[in-house]
Amino acid sequence: MNNQFKEDVLAGLSSSPKTLPSKYFYNEIGDDLFVKIMHSSEYYLTRAELEIFQQQSQQIIENFGIDKESYFELIELGAGDGLKTKELLKELCKQNCNFAYLPVDISQNALDKLEESLTHELPSIKVKTKQGDYFEVLQSLKETPHPKVVLFLGSNIGNLSDELAEEFIYKLGSNLKTNDKLLLGVDLMKSASIIIPAYSDKEGYTRDFNLNLLTRINDELGGQFDVKNFTHLAEYDEKTGVAKSFLVSTKEQRVSIDSLGMEFTFGKDEKIHTEISRKYNDEVLNKIIANTDFRIFAKLTDSKNYFANYILRRG
Ligand code: AVI
Repeated sequence: MNNQFKEDVLAGLSSSPKTLPSKYFYNEIGDDLFVKIMHSSEYYLTRAELEIFQQQSQQIIENFGIDKESYFELIELGAGDGLKTKELLKELCKQNCNFAYLPVDISQNALDKLEESLTHELPSIKVKTKQGDYFEVLQSLKETPHPKVVLFLGSNIGNLSDELAEEFIYKLGSNLKTNDKLLLGVDLMKSASIIIPAYSDKEGYTRDFNLNLLTRINDELGGQFDVKNFTHLAEYDEKTGVAKSFLVSTKEQRVSIDSLGMEFTFGKDEKIHTEISRKYNDEVLNKIIANTDFRIFAKLTDSKNYFANYILRRG
């Protein structure tokens, strides 16, 4: 991990324009900040998706197209605290559906917490936690004869470039069978006046989340960043639907990173691109899935039309 981090930082800070991968946001500090972001008044994504699950779980289940008696596997990639999924699980129980819930996560700790909370809140559910890489887990489940529904929520797909999103969905398809479903949660394209504040909340949680990348480089790679000399910037292009986050150097400066034995130069106002948060519509999604085995089967949106849960069917 540390070696991969080192390689990625070296490659990112040596390229022009400079970049750093957003996957490194998520250490203990970053996870806590992300929870704060999700509760901030500006970050509407989590609430909008929760509303869909609270109000439309019945429709979601109908669109799974699975008859009540036949057993199926509900696999969630990156389950987190399962807040939204629990709404769906409650409805599945109410309807006496025959299924097992398989949350997949890289963090065993997150899975243990989720399993523990489910034992109390929904004790009748069959839960089989799966720790590991998403595709390794899917591969290991591939040969089971049961129909599958895969959940990938929270607009996590939006943190991938379109090329990588296509590759991701293609790979999912290759581990599933005809008529299996993918429930994909995505943030929708909308006015910059709503998106920009969501990525630059006034409490500064998103700023700290972004700056945490530099703190991690300091702590883990012997970086000498003075985080006071960088600010956070969010941009959104209404035409393309792509939101981007940057760290901006507030002055001309040189920063060394001991474990790389290198020094990097930053100009005043020079940007480091740290994250993409893509926003979707039907056209964007159709383009991304055009060369995969999936087609759009249903779409559920929240009352403000901010967020969508697409149900994709594997052909
Ligand atoms: C996890 N992911 C979907 C979040 C997003 O909206 O792109 C991460 C995030 N970055 C800044 N705020 C939230």
